Amino acid sequence: MPREAYVNGRYLPHRAAQVHIEDRGYQFADAVYEVVPVVHGALVDEDMHLDRLERSLDELRIAMPMSRQALEMTSRELMRRNGLTYGFLYMQVSRGVAPRDHKFPKQARPALVMTTRQTKPHSEEMLSKGVAVITVPDIRWKRCDIKSISLLPNVLAKQQAVDEGAYEAWMIDAEGFVTEGTSTNAWIVTKDNRLVTRSANNAILNGVTRLALLAIAESIGVELEERAFTLEEALEAREAFLTSSTNFVMPVTAIDGRSVGNGHPGLLTMKLRDSYVSYAMGLARSGDSAPAVPEVEARACR
Ligand code: PDD
Repeated sequence: MPREAYVNGRYLPHRAAQVHIEDRGYQFADAVYEVVPVVHGALVDEDMHLDRLERSLDELRIAMPMSRQALEMTSRELMRRNGLTYGFLYMQVSRGVAPRDHKFPKQARPALVMTTRQTKPHSEEMLSKGVAVITVPDIRWKRCDIKSISLLPNVLAKQQAVDEGAYEAWMIDAEGFVTEGTSTNAWIVTKDNRLVTRSANNAILNGVTRLALLAIAESIGVELEERAFTLEEALEAREAFLTSSTNFVMPVTAIDGRSVGNGHPGLLTMKLRDSYVSYAMGLARSGDSAPAVPEVEARACR
């Protein structure tokens, strides 16, 4: 089935879909995006992703390109056309097309692009081994809470990770604390079994998977600490993992070439992964994004 993309009001063959050369996303990275996971043909935590999209747009004073209801219908239509069952929906909204000039254009209308990608679940082998991360200085700007398409530091750090045979790079701030991965949030489990992840402020993207997992962890009685942790603490941790819409919960078994804990995916990590996968499947079965865990909505990303 030929894949289609949605571009400013039209469904086009994916390979022929294009945006204007003076789209401000292309020229200035003046745009935001969302990646929404799809399981059993259903969007996972769509509401939280759309809340975050609206928040990112608000922060940049870009209008929603269409009503939220229209956005929901359009994304479903694209998924239907593409027969998407497992993978993700990508949406990107730029400030629009205008002659190149840094200040906001008076006339431009927000431009919306959506694509879908069918993927395979991560292999059992990968999950049973866990992944390696390296660490790099966090050289990003001070508004990492906005899901901007301006991802050059993330791209460079991810490539460095790949070049060094690792899966992800964890970024370290000026004080020696881990901020997050290039496209994932970072977590550790301490020796006394406390789950730690950085609290959400301007230094990190408040991951939707992060929010859902915090609620899940709380609901199963895990001791939680939302605070920054140092690289040294991560190296001393019993377990470590990363979360995102494309990884769900992925065990981290090495940091900068040193084993985390016993070098195998941790027990709590795998329990949280299983719980998250059941949660996502539950949402898919229920046919909408109604949270199976009540606290999830209460912790919304705003
Ligand atoms: N990345 N931190 C950063 C910098 C991210 O880019 C992402 C998501 C996350 C995790 O957020 P969520 O749980 O909502 O996916 C954290 C997406 C998947 C990407 O850029 O492809």
